[in-house]
Amino acid sequence: MKRVAMLGIKHLEQCLILETRSDPHPWGRDNWLRSLRDDHCLGLWEGTELLAISCYCLVLDEVSLLNIVVDADSRGQGVGRRLLTEGLEWMQQFGGARCLLEVRLSNTVARSLYSALGFAEDGIRKNYYPLGDGFEHAVLMSADLPLGG
Ligand SMILES: CC(C)(COP(=O)(O)OP(=O)(O)OC[C@H]1O[C@@H](n2cnc3c(N)ncnc32)[C@H](O)[C@@H]1OP(=O)(O)O)[C@@H](O)C(=O)NCCC(=O)NCCS
Repeated sequence: MKRVAMLGIKHLEQCLILETRSDPHPWGRDNWLRSLRDDHCLGLWEGTELLAISCYCLVLDEVSLLNIVVDADSRGQGVGRRLLTEGLEWMQQFGGARCLLEVRLSNTVARSLYSALGFAEDGIRKNYYPLGDGFEHAVLMSADLPLGG
């Protein structure tokens, strides 16, 4: 049975293994260490296997989605949808009333996930992400919480 649970520093190595396997633009050790320590990080587990990770931070009533990665072998099965939905429900407990995020313009799968959950595209941040020897635009998206409410 799958379950969503908080992640902490003790899960650092599992997060690094998952993102190295599955994220084309990995955060790396220092960012994970900081986020596991300072942010709200949640994982979706099946037994002892970590299938997906997501991190959020909260400023006043605004939640920022910092990262979400589903293991490459577990995609297309509703894992990302479930983790983000439950993650944002989790953040509402702490006062989150709106969620903001940035996503690479070329990341059509993630943009589709966010749209399917009710996020609207608010604009473009030009040349935001490094890409090879150039840069890529970010799409800014937001949704009121609860999702679909
Ligand atoms: C983006 C990501 C988190 C999606 O996770 P997932 O578990 O595969 O997604 P789900 O199975 O929950 O699908 C939810 C929705 O996403 C979209 N989606 C998922 N896979 C898709 C695909 N291959 N093509 C198009 N849309 C897709 C659909 O809208 C889907 O809704 P539907 O099932 O009703 O059609 C995953 O692909 C991932 O980890 N990518 C690499 C890291 C990344 O890009 N993170 C986002 C950073 S902003």
